[in-house]
Amino acid sequence: MWGKRTGYEKEGRRVSIQFEGGTGRIEVVNAGVINVFAPLHTQEHESRAVEQPNPAFVVCDYTVSERDGRIEIVTEQLIVRVYDHFKVDFYDAAGTPLCLDYRGEREPFPRRGNVSIAEGEGHAAMRTSEHHKIQVLKAMEGEEKFYGLGDKTGPLNKRGYEYEMWNTDDPSPHVESHKSLYKSIPFFITLKERAAYGLFFDNPFKTFFDLGKENSDYYYFGADGGNLDYYFIYGPDPKNVVSRYTALTGRTPLPQLWTLGAHQSRWSYAPESRVLEIAEKFREHDLPLDVIHLDVDYMDGYRVFTWDDERFPDPAALTKRLGEMGIKVVTIIDPGVKKDRGYGIYEEGLEKGFYATDRDGVPYVNAVWPGDSVYPDFSDEPVRRWWADNQKIMLDAGIAGIWNDMNEPASFNGPLPDDVRFKNDGRGADHLEIHNVYGHLMSKSTYDGILEASGKRPFVITRAAYAGTQKYSTVWTGDNQSFWEHLRLSIPMTLNLGLSGFAFNGCDVGGFSHDCTPELLARWVQVGAFSPLFRNHTAIGTRDQEPWAYDEDTLDAYRKAMKLRYRLLPYLYDLMREAEQTGLPPMRPLLLEFPEDEHVHELDDQFLFGSRMLVAPVIEQGKRYRAVYLPEGSWVDYRSGETLEGGRVILAEAPLDVCPIYVRAGSFLPAYPDQKYVGELKIKELLLDVYPGTGEYVHTQDDGESFDYRSGSYNEYRFSQSEQDGELEIAWEASHAGYDGETYASFRLTVHGRSASSVELNGEAIPFLAEIRGTTFHVPAGSGKVRLIR
Ligand code: GLC
Repeated sequence: MWGKRTGYEKEGRRVSIQFEGGTGRIEVVNAGVINVFAPLHTQEHESRAVEQPNPAFVVCDYTVSERDGRIEIVTEQLIVRVYDHFKVDFYDAAGTPLCLDYRGEREPFPRRGNVSIAEGEGHAAMRTSEHHKIQVLKAMEGEEKFYGLGDKTGPLNKRGYEYEMWNTDDPSPHVESHKSLYKSIPFFITLKERAAYGLFFDNPFKTFFDLGKENSDYYYFGADGGNLDYYFIYGPDPKNVVSRYTALTGRTPLPQLWTLGAHQSRWSYAPESRVLEIAEKFREHDLPLDVIHLDVDYMDGYRVFTWDDERFPDPAALTKRLGEMGIKVVTIIDPGVKKDRGYGIYEEGLEKGFYATDRDGVPYVNAVWPGDSVYPDFSDEPVRRWWADNQKIMLDAGIAGIWNDMNEPASFNGPLPDDVRFKNDGRGADHLEIHNVYGHLMSKSTYDGILEASGKRPFVITRAAYAGTQKYSTVWTGDNQSFWEHLRLSIPMTLNLGLSGFAFNGCDVGGFSHDCTPELLARWVQVGAFSPLFRNHTAIGTRDQEPWAYDEDTLDAYRKAMKLRYRLLPYLYDLMREAEQTGLPPMRPLLLEFPEDEHVHELDDQFLFGSRMLVAPVIEQGKRYRAVYLPEGSWVDYRSGETLEGGRVILAEAPLDVCPIYVRAGSFLPAYPDQKYVGELKIKELLLDVYPGTGEYVHTQDDGESFDYRSGSYNEYRFSQSEQDGELEIAWEASHAGYDGETYASFRLTVHGRSASSVELNGEAIPFLAEIRGTTFHVPAGSGKVRLIR
């Protein structure tokens, strides 16, 4: 289509390049991020993911020249070469090729046999892939690995797989052949021997990704609508790619502390007496709990923003009573508004023209839980405002967060036709363009509404999402099943979500459909304990999935995992702060920390919690041990305290109540004492587990709920440790003092694996307790230095 180059122009950060067949554009977002654009659908970006003003757009010097039959754009970090036919190649500053357009035609591997015979028997036989209007082919060198793309099925490394981005509500078992699920995050990271880079195809239409499945000489992405609009995001290490991608599409704001506690759900806890019973049982069984979710049956006939009078006669009284037990309530909401004369919300939206329509402007009707329903047009600002304002109805009843479901949008009477019309903030668009951003826009509006009504950090959880939704909402991976295979799958799914910008994510712990066995629940909770969003949720008709519905061993294992999670809450909270600052997810694949270690590139049955803890859960029935790969360095077995040298595979024992965990030498892990819920205790003393070695750690404390920390209302402590002549020295300083709420008076340090003969604080001996597992002592918060003398 493009043909030969006929000229170019540089204007500000953009270089427009004329070809015989049209104009393409290269935009220098910053020295390491380049946008490639062609106005095939709109003249300018119409992005829902990249909002402006945007911190990633930084003015930087670059040069443009024309030579050897190409245009060369040079920034401090990258060289971009543009050739005839709009072929674009990326090199690092030293001229090493990073990502080159493939010069040949698509040539799928041959497929043999008569497909129609197979189809006649009901097999889904593979056909050669289709060609797309927009198609970008990139050359493969052979060693590339691919990560990201949101929560797709399949392994961590997506090489050799194909996917589609079309938000889909698919309750059938999630298996490797699924190309689309609930979210569309058209971003992936390529890891090569020399460097990592990311590609973000910011096109909300249905998009296609083939990562070497069709042919191992190239990989490609494409679409049949929208613009050619992709970002090349340089590393060179994968952490930088994630940071740069999240600077562009936004980062997960620090959540309220309680949202990191345990959430309990089922379809549905109702009536209110059942909700109270659940709350009491958690307390009775000494199980920490912060949140109960109310699924669709709290509503009056599934009408959004209403309550069922019989089941929930006084929601405000219920939330108050639960609040006294330290438990918050989150309610589900679906976008579908029941088509029902006399129902205020429906009538108001109808009168104001707030629903998506058919081509004649008549509100489009499909069916969801309430039966015939209409779809609010979230692509239009007045509708987002209306929905945002309505959040107050729920917040006034004491609801602490909102769970957005069925917002792909789901529909029971077949898919929404392609040409359902949306206002799209004045530009007008068909369903084809809005579908993948529908849940994103609903979540944005929910976030804004909660923020205005509460003034606190909003808690939204959404099933459908697009790139950038992480700014507004946490996500879960939708309707999984209580299968061991789905526990296993949840790890690569959530790790890839984390790499795709969604630092705050989780899955239904225990599995949604089917009955969870006792052993599966015990093992699932050991993984869930580390996922930023922890929610045990199950479907209608399944057996009870609360831990006390099982035997004592399961209950014990569950309690143990949850207590560990609550102990580590200050660490998780620090990790969420890190996520806000850098985009790095708390739960991360090993390749993020050890990109040079090839052994970890495909590891997706163990993961890191922050950079310091390695978690190797058991995800197979009947297993009481497992192989664990420890990267180079010294690691301490969290349970036994034994120090192990890495760079090898070890065999870990894992009885039912044990999840093997290893901590890197030189780490500090902040911890809280046992609590039933976040905020039960006023924590005057922070616990710190110290694993000897060399290292630093930053811990912060704030009010845990408002955005005041952004204007300086937080305290920051910097810890460091180093060893000299066998003596460990630990220093800390209050590096920022801006929060004057409940602050720490002291720290209780436990130095693992060290039995000291004396401990000196600023040169003076202090009392300590030396035990086999380590040495414990108390020091005042503020600043100081201790020496541990052997
Ligand atoms: C959808 C959700 C699930 C919820 C159910 C009923 O299937 O994914 O979590 O329980 O709807 O609302």
